[in-house]
Amino acid sequence: MIVCLCHGVSDRTIRGLIQEGASSVDDIAAACGAGTGCGSCKTMVAKMVKIGATAELYQLKSVARNTESPRPDGLPGGRVEGSKGSHRAA
Ligand code: FES
Repeated sequence: MIVCLCHGVSDRTIRGLIQEGASSVDDIAAACGAGTGCGSCKTMVAKMVKIGATAELYQLKSVARNTESPRPDGLPGGRVEGSKGSHRAA
């Protein structure tokens, strides 16, 4: 999916930059130009950076607990201890 129409930058490119260490909208802009045109994609880029940081933090906590993420994308989710039935994060 194209996130930045002005520069033709895809979500895949942005996710790759986040995995390589980009941690802000400015980092993404410097690396690929996303957000440096009309600016309408900056909100989406910021959300992707935030989600990337959350996923990385969760993975670090999982490693610290010597457990694996219950979700393939590394985000929190799965069964909630002590709840009736099961609950999955959106
Ligand atoms: S859509 Fe990204 S700068 Fe315009």
